[in-house]
Amino acid sequence: MEKEIIHLKERFDQQILFTRNSMELEKIRNEYIGRKGYISKLLGQLPLLSQEERPKIGKMLNQIKQSIQKVLEEKEKELQKQKTFKEEIFDYTVPGKDFLMGTFHPIELILKQTEEIFLGMGFKMVDGPEIELDYYNFEGLNIPKDHPARDDQDSFYISPEILLRTQTSPMQVRTMENQPSPVRIISTGKCYRRDSIDSTHTPMFHQIEGLAVDKDISLSDLKGVITEFCHQIFGKERKVRFRPGYFPFVEPGAEVDVSCGLCNGKGCQSCGYTGWLEIMGAGMVHPHVLEMVGYNAEELTGFAFGMGAERIAMLKYGIHDIRLFFENDIRFLNQFK
Ligand code: DAH
Repeated sequence: MEKEIIHLKERFDQQILFTRNSMELEKIRNEYIGRKGYISKLLGQLPLLSQEERPKIGKMLNQIKQSIQKVLEEKEKELQKQKTFKEEIFDYTVPGKDFLMGTFHPIELILKQTEEIFLGMGFKMVDGPEIELDYYNFEGLNIPKDHPARDDQDSFYISPEILLRTQTSPMQVRTMENQPSPVRIISTGKCYRRDSIDSTHTPMFHQIEGLAVDKDISLSDLKGVITEFCHQIFGKERKVRFRPGYFPFVEPGAEVDVSCGLCNGKGCQSCGYTGWLEIMGAGMVHPHVLEMVGYNAEELTGFAFGMGAERIAMLKYGIHDIRLFFENDIRFLNQFK
């Protein structure tokens, strides 16, 4: 009988380990120490034992019963704790949480769309440094040290020869230095100028630059490519016009306007009653720029253009203050889903 009791306790210890809820616990309690349980049964057999054995086994059975009771109590407490923990953590009645879906920043949207449009026309993307040499930002673009065109583009200087680029145009020079013609590239990225902040200026902004150089490139290629871009970005109904404009690295140079989308070119407050909105600078690459990178300016011609991504976004989405792009107001950004 002694062995049977030890075996019983071992079985109990095993079973209690795998008990996961109070129903199972109740079952085990009944099985072992209930009125018709194992211990009771064994106690009932005590009178059959010899006089010497009876007190010994009786004592043993009582001890085991007590120890089983204690273990059951502890297990009950443990299960209770687990239950309240689970209930605290899992409130099945709370509705699921919405995923917070991010959106592309409107400037990123414009850059992406622009890249896609020009990739579709056979241009290639190139990336360039924001910390630039004076040579690429100015000199190589036909803007020597004393040139008045520098006045409009004061930069943040790291040293007299190193600065934060004021335009993406240096990528024209860098690209041509690195590869022979034909060239068809687009380069987008951040630019910096020492401008005071107002509704149309921030010291950091984004530009989109384009360059095409080949044997027979003419002004009509420039007009065709830019007109196609404007139609894809703003809509086919918009008109595009080219006005003479001056940039030291193109000749002839042009300013490009699109007809105002609000008044359809009739003239309104938004377009300063002109019917037109200026969107970029462009022109035929200056022969001197071609010569400086070692291209044969007698044989090759090209066109270039550059525009501000913020300006394009403001015109496309009807945004009146450039500062909105950088304030990170979720209510503003969420509108570009
Ligand atoms: N980089 C000029 C600016 O920031 C814009 C520009 C004008 C770029 C004419 C060009 C261009 O490539 O041909 O004002």
